[in-house]
Amino acid sequence: MASRRTVPLASFEGGDPDGVPLMLLHGFPLDHTSWAPQLAADFGARVIAPDLRGFGASPFTEAASIEGMAEDVLALADRLGVGRFVLGGLSMGGYVALAVARRAPERLLGLVLADTRAEADAEETRRKRDEHVALVQAQGSQALADLVVPGFFTEAYRAAEPREVRAVRTTIAGQSPQGVVNALRAMRDRPDATQGLGSIACPSLVLVGEQDPLTPPQLAERLAEGIPGARLVVIPGAAHLSNLEQPEAFNEALGVFLRGLSRAPPEGGAEARPAWRQGG
Ligand code: MLT
Repeated sequence: MASRRTVPLASFEGGDPDGVPLMLLHGFPLDHTSWAPQLAADFGARVIAPDLRGFGASPFTEAASIEGMAEDVLALADRLGVGRFVLGGLSMGGYVALAVARRAPERLLGLVLADTRAEADAEETRRKRDEHVALVQAQGSQALADLVVPGFFTEAYRAAEPREVRAVRTTIAGQSPQGVVNALRAMRDRPDATQGLGSIACPSLVLVGEQDPLTPPQLAERLAEGIPGARLVVIPGAAHLSNLEQPEAFNEALGVFLRGLSRAPPEGGAEARPAWRQGG
């Protein structure tokens, strides 16, 4: 039974502490370290990268659905005094970001969905999730690395950047099996989010690696088409972890999006408090 109790997420920050908050949610089975190039970037934003429940430095207390993981994210924003924020998520992080958009659309100044999808798992994928649960329970989280890393990066990148790829494998191996199993079940059972896309009212950006084999560009096109006014940017020379494989192109697209948001007139006129302050 999934809990409604939130977990106090560990979070890590970069950028400008006074800038617009940009919360970035990592993919599976990773943690905030997968956002290193964005935490180090100069977007003029306060970049906040949490570890989702049971990943990295965030505890696993009890099972939670994707909706429950979204509640953890909203509780973190409350704890940090962040009222409204730009929310980004890559793959599993995108599933959680879409759940936040459903639960608390008034909190979002913008939405960034990278290498992710709105559709629920197909039957075959649900069966694979169960196999992966059994694998992790028997052999630990490192057993997943061989299965997922080939889809994360292009072959060319894996050959050219073995240290980066090893670092990702090390991150995977270090994840708590409980957190990984919970996330596998949460992804397996997540609802289809396509119906709700048309109600997303904040500015939205969809990013995808041109060679992403897990959430290919056709899916990203469908996602962008479903969200009113969303912009789609395809990142050349990248597979699934497009933010890590092509950080310059990814950050360029994200920076353009953020600058576009800051040009929007402040709600309540020029004297209004920044929109992201709690209660603002
Ligand atoms: C991820 O990168 O988060 C995974 O590919 C998501 C998934 O397995 O659906």
